[in-house]
Amino acid sequence: AAAPVPAKEDFFGCLVKAIPARLLYAKSSPDFPTVLAQTIRNSRWSSPQNVKPLYIITPTNASHIQSAVVCGRRHAVRLRVRSGGHDYEGLSYRSERPEAFAVVDLNKMRAVLVDAKARTAWVDSGAQLGELYYGIAKNSPVLAFPAGVCPTIGVGGNFAGGGFGMLLRKYGIAAENVIDVKVVDANGTLLDKSSMSADHFWAVRGGGGESFGIVVSWQVNLLPVPPTVTVFQIPKTVREGAVELINKWQLVAPALPDDLMIRIIAFGDTAKFEGMYLGTCKTLTPLMSSKFPELGMNASHCNEMPWIKSVPFIHLGKQATLFDLLNRNNTFRPFAEYKSDYVYQPVPKTVWAQIFVWLVKPGAGIMVMDPYGAAISATPEAATPFPHRKGVLFNIQYVNYWFDEAGGAAPLQWSKDMYRFMEPYVSKNPRQAYANYRDLDLGRNEVVNDVSTYASGKVWGEKYFKGNFQRLAITKAKVDPQDYFRNEQSIPPLLAK
Ligand code: FDA
Repeated sequence: AAAPVPAKEDFFGCLVKAIPARLLYAKSSPDFPTVLAQTIRNSRWSSPQNVKPLYIITPTNASHIQSAVVCGRRHAVRLRVRSGGHDYEGLSYRSERPEAFAVVDLNKMRAVLVDAKARTAWVDSGAQLGELYYGIAKNSPVLAFPAGVCPTIGVGGNFAGGGFGMLLRKYGIAAENVIDVKVVDANGTLLDKSSMSADHFWAVRGGGGESFGIVVSWQVNLLPVPPTVTVFQIPKTVREGAVELINKWQLVAPALPDDLMIRIIAFGDTAKFEGMYLGTCKTLTPLMSSKFPELGMNASHCNEMPWIKSVPFIHLGKQATLFDLLNRNNTFRPFAEYKSDYVYQPVPKTVWAQIFVWLVKPGAGIMVMDPYGAAISATPEAATPFPHRKGVLFNIQYVNYWFDEAGGAAPLQWSKDMYRFMEPYVSKNPRQAYANYRDLDLGRNEVVNDVSTYASGKVWGEKYFKGNFQRLAITKAKVDPQDYFRNEQSIPPLLAK
């Protein structure tokens, strides 16, 4: 890619008038590379070929964010916002096109304020999910929140694109449990639910990051969990019947009571059945014997614990502790490629057998499969921008890691081939994908007359948002008609002719 256009001195001059200099990093600053790299999770986007920001702004309050927007608009510098930096395509801190942009990095805005009595919390976008979960548990052992599984994910990006984890069958997605927000819009105005339009409030809760302003913080409903939950992890190889078990799982798991979630992680010749039950082992084992006896789950598989302990347990294993929820220095930063699918019709058993052949090919990745049904499927498609609801049996995420820059050819090829192989068995017209599992192979916006076009956005946008895409684009035209907040997959404004 070509080099970005030269630094805008006036922009920096404008920033320093409103924001303390210690919160600003110009490209020439010695700390700039470290601050930029801090939350780059996918090493593919660290290399020098990527178009980097000219400045990084690390606000400590909403007025700094407002000033950044005002200065950016005045001096034609775009802003990309970064919370946890987990964007699969790195769009929170890199651009595919040469452009002058600054990153608003929210890593210093991480407050979690819990009101256990009211069962609500305000959480800043820069907090990681683990900090939110920890903050809730510190106040109450019987309250929880249904967001992503990995504790280092940023609240900002996760909630903006939906957000789901092991509580998805009980409580749906993070975004639908948000009851208020504070957002800095494209004019630099700070809005909340009472001062923004109903469409704008709808769009920020699931319509994807970046497009609808910078969300400073979110107020959420906290949801009840019992004092004890039970986790089990049962690996089964193909020789031990993995094919037959997955074939049964795809019908059973989406129809289980909402207290029980059994997801699958398939890798090599193995399917790991990972379950979380909102209750004790004593009630779980008879339930499993009646609904899914073939798995052979029994009391020896039970790990009972408070809900909060289940989060690091599921993510990192038995040895993990609550402090892993607060660790922001996770050093696992592979080169990675991701894709996703939604399945509405059971995949034939013969195809599952073929899938296990794919999973041992050179460059093979893994498949993470989350069953839907219960709460996540009960919400109407238009209630939030997240449209993957009634009739979805399960979501598939294809994940591929490699550990040196030159090692990408085989995994990237495998991802493409696997995705093509799965086409007959997954959703069609459009082939749906989860917005938070961002994939630029689905399409990129074209910019004409300095505005992203609706036609180019529709190509990828209907895959993430189905019929909600048009309402998102109409809303974008109302709140940001000049398309100030944009990236390669931001919602384009659908402007009236
Ligand atoms: P990041 O900061 O990169 O932002 C992502 C996007 O949102 C960017 O476009 C950014 O500009 C925008 N954005 C960020 N903060 C914003 C703000 N305050 N206001 C407006 N826009 C903002 N998902 C899931 O639902 N369940 C899961 O279990 C997992 N697991 C998982 C594991 C791992 C290891 C990774 C890397 C990712 C996941 N994900 C996931 C996907 C994750 O939800 C997705 O990448 C989120 O967008 C990440 O949010 P961050 O704030 O970390 O990303």
